[in-house]
Amino acid sequence: MAFGCWVGVFVLLSVWPSVRCSDLPRGAIETACRDRYLLVTTQLSFAGNKPRFEAVDADGVHPITKQYGSECGYMFSILPLRGHAELRASYFSCHTDNQDDEVFTFSFNLITIDANGVEATYSVTATCSLPLPWSPREVSCEENYMEVSMRSDVSCLSGTTDAWTAALAKAHSSATSTWQVMFQQEGQQLIPMSFSEARELGYVFHLTRGRLVFRSPYTPRSVMGSVSMINGSVVEVVHPILLSRQRWVVMMVDWIVACSTNEGMYDGAGLVWQTPTLLSPLVSGLSGLESSKISMGVDGQLLDEPITAERGYSLDISDTTVQISIPFNAAGGYRKSFVMDNMYHEFYVVHLYYEQIFLDDCGVETRLRLHRPMNTPLLIQHLSIINQTVLEDRVFTVYLGNLSYDVDLVVVKLNGHDFTILEANKSGLVITMVPQPNSTLHAYILRVPFEDAVVHKLYSPEGLLQFSLDINYTLVILPQEEPFYYLASVVAQFNDVFPPVFKGVCNEKSIRFQMDHKPFDYLWEVGVGPYILTTNLAAKRGYIMQNDSKSLNLEVPLFSVGYTYKDINLKQFYGSFEIHSRLPKTLEVKSSLAKACLFQTTEVIVCSTEGVVTVVTDVTLAIPGAEPNGTFLLDSTCRPQETDDTRVLFSFGLHTCGTRVQVHHQHVTYENDINVEHKSQSVNAPVKSRDTASVVTVRCVYPLSDLYKLFAYWRFEADSPGVGTILTRVPVKTLPPTTLTTTRRPLTSTTTSNTGLSPGRQMPGINPRAKYVKVFSWQMNQPKGTT
Ligand SMILES: *[C@@H]1O[C@H](CO)[C@@H](O)[C@H](O)[C@H]1NC(C)=O
Ligand SMILES: *[C@@H]1O[C@H](CO)[C@@H](O)[C@H](O)[C@H]1NC(C)=O
Ligand SMILES: *[C@@H]1O[C@H](CO)[C@@H](O)[C@H](O)[C@H]1NC(C)=O
Ligand SMILES: *[C@@H]1O[C@H](CO)[C@@H](O)[C@H](O)[C@H]1NC(C)=O
Ligand SMILES: *[C@@H]1O[C@H](CO)[C@@H](O)[C@H](O)[C@H]1NC(C)=O
Ligand SMILES: *[C@@H]1O[C@H](CO)[C@@H](O)[C@H](O)[C@H]1NC(C)=O
Ligand SMILES: *[C@@H]1O[C@H](CO)[C@@H](O)[C@H](O)[C@H]1NC(C)=O
Ligand SMILES: *[C@@H]1O[C@H](CO)[C@@H](O)[C@H](O)[C@H]1NC(C)=O
Repeated sequence: MAFGCWVGVFVLLSVWPSVRCSDLPRGAIETACRDRYLLVTTQLSFAGNKPRFEAVDADGVHPITKQYGSECGYMFSILPLRGHAELRASYFSCHTDNQDDEVFTFSFNLITIDANGVEATYSVTATCSLPLPWSPREVSCEENYMEVSMRSDVSCLSGTTDAWTAALAKAHSSATSTWQVMFQQEGQQLIPMSFSEARELGYVFHLTRGRLVFRSPYTPRSVMGSVSMINGSVVEVVHPILLSRQRWVVMMVDWIVACSTNEGMYDGAGLVWQTPTLLSPLVSGLSGLESSKISMGVDGQLLDEPITAERGYSLDISDTTVQISIPFNAAGGYRKSFVMDNMYHEFYVVHLYYEQIFLDDCGVETRLRLHRPMNTPLLIQHLSIINQTVLEDRVFTVYLGNLSYDVDLVVVKLNGHDFTILEANKSGLVITMVPQPNSTLHAYILRVPFEDAVVHKLYSPEGLLQFSLDINYTLVILPQEEPFYYLASVVAQFNDVFPPVFKGVCNEKSIRFQMDHKPFDYLWEVGVGPYILTTNLAAKRGYIMQNDSKSLNLEVPLFSVGYTYKDINLKQFYGSFEIHSRLPKTLEVKSSLAKACLFQTTEVIVCSTEGVVTVVTDVTLAIPGAEPNGTFLLDSTCRPQETDDTRVLFSFGLHTCGTRVQVHHQHVTYENDINVEHKSQSVNAPVKSRDTASVVTVRCVYPLSDLYKLFAYWRFEADSPGVGTILTRVPVKTLPPTTLTTTRRPLTSTTTSNTGLSPGRQMPGINPRAKYVKVFSWQMNQPKGTT
């Protein structure tokens, strides 16, 4: 299709050999006729990283090298940020067909190299009709050369200078019929040379139909030029004088080309470039010069004032200097950000285009056009981290700021655990993005409660509590998603943090514990034995627990699970109960309170872990009038240790005193009987006789699993006290039915039976002589771990 081959009205683009024009990707090669040059662009994606051009004319092909381009009016550059390479060819470039300074025909070869190093050549031709009429004098300050063209009939001589006089004298003495050139340099002799000699030095002169053209590279090639400071700006000047003698007449053409070669500067906010308001070297002879119009643009095109204002460009014109500022990242420039050494770097590039029109005293217009690429240095964006933690809130609050708009936070690694933003939010951490005031920057605020599982806690017994969090932020630069990392650590410390302290008070039939709540109580768990104190445990074991925001109150009734007993005698005994607080994971730091209280003895049975049973019971319940000091166990040599009017205290080893042992499926039952000798009165036999009656059965039950040492080492050592029961036979005067009275105590924990004491349990029918079984309590006689 032909349309793809035509760009604009005046441009013809044709391609050979094997690729037809229509096969070229869109935008692969484009041409545009600009005011003073032809622009050829080619996409790097098409042309590879190192495309090059050759100028083609009737004489052949001329590779456009750096030097050749600067001498012949071609400016070639590869612009990776824009993704293309571009060639600017002056309308007066060496190999351009010029028709009447109005229509210019260009012909190039574009040589592309693909990834495999294979070259391809495309022919590019274009014809431009001059878009903007020539001014009498035109100065073009390209990146790589200065070019001046002048209408051949321009003359504005309004005076003479010493230099001019000297040149004139030299011309008279050495002019020949062929044109020669002398370069005027301060303090240097004028030496006429031929155009071809000048061309050797890199200077090109040619005459078109109506104009004289002179082109010079910048220093150091332009050995005949000079560099001077004008009103604070660097200006490069080349000043050739042409001379020729035609018969008696010496003709001289005084030329001058001057370009401001200031570099752009970065002032922290943007790029700044300046040039003298009056480029005084352009003043020819003594005639005056005034600046009449200044315009600016980018990328080789001038822009209207409203557009430049909208983009934030500024143009300050004073008597001496013109200053142009382009803010960082303003439209029209190219910004690049990337990661280097795990740091965020960026820079910004603008291709400034500048036009200034001068008028001299004779009203002759000079149009100066200037290309100036400018870039910022490599700017490193230092992120800022602010610890906004307020201890009282107990939340780490960390502000990560100074992030450019193209930086995103994707992952936070907290003490080694990765969280994406979404995951963090789900896990109760909060990450919020906030704009940074007065800037295009933004920030993230991360909130992690001290109590969160990822936070490291450190507690020392001196009362120092420390929370710490190491953060590794993963940030990416968009759109390429190039990652970099930023590390931060926060620590929060609290002093005088101690485990909860309990107070214990003895009651008549219980021990009461009290603990006042403190802020870091949650760090510890309250335990009873190996168990955590919970409402559930309390309910199961019959503890009475009250817990409000101020304090925890626990009342532990005597004989409930968890008590230990000692110093039992008929009057009193010690019952103690231990409550403690510990760190849940390490369990290492503890504060504990074992409260021992003296209780009145009524009836007690303790089956110790060492295998000793201690029992206090009232034997007169079974046989009124029975004498306690006349009691004995199955082995009648085992007598009570203490007695009073009604009660006996026995203490004996489970493997002594004739104790019966029964091994059941899951537990071992030890039983002994308290017997009493008493006088029996039979209705049939009025003779009184002495009789022996069993009045009480004492029973201890241990879980089999607790007694492994008994079987391994023949040593009795239980892990926990056995469950004791006192079964008293109470004779009833009236004959059957047998009456059973049951009183039920609150159930003890099913998972432990670590009490050594229990005041009795229903067990009907153990002794046929019993008419009445008094039941003190009922307790499950079940193995550990079942309900
Ligand atoms: C600017 O430069 C011109 C030419 O060099 C000079 O005459 C003029 O005094 C300078 N002005 C200032 C303010 O420096
Ligand atoms: C944040 O960036 C600004 C410039 O954008 C810089 O002046 C400041 O020092 C940075 N803050 C930190 C903490 O580096
Ligand atoms: C995080 O969750 C809160 C609500 O809990 C919501 O308002 C917020 O938008 C979420 N943030 C993100 C990044 O999903
Ligand atoms: C932001 O700008 C406002 C006015 O534009 C100014 O009052 C304020 O102080 C600035 N804040 C900072 C942090 O620079
Ligand atoms: C931060 O996280 C990244 C990605 O997980 C890892 O490559 C880097 O080594 C981490 N830096 C440190 C200091 O742990
Ligand atoms: C962060 O802030 C907390 C609370 O103000 C403070 O205790 C701590 O020392 C600060 N510094 C670090 C590095 O965490
Ligand atoms: C007591 O209540 C507090 C809240 O008031 C709670 O944190 C604590 O876990 C409770 N303690 C027990 C043992 O239930
Ligand atoms: C038992 O004690 C009573 C008095 O309390 C006494 O009369 C009796 O002799 C004692 N019997 C024995 C066997 O010690």
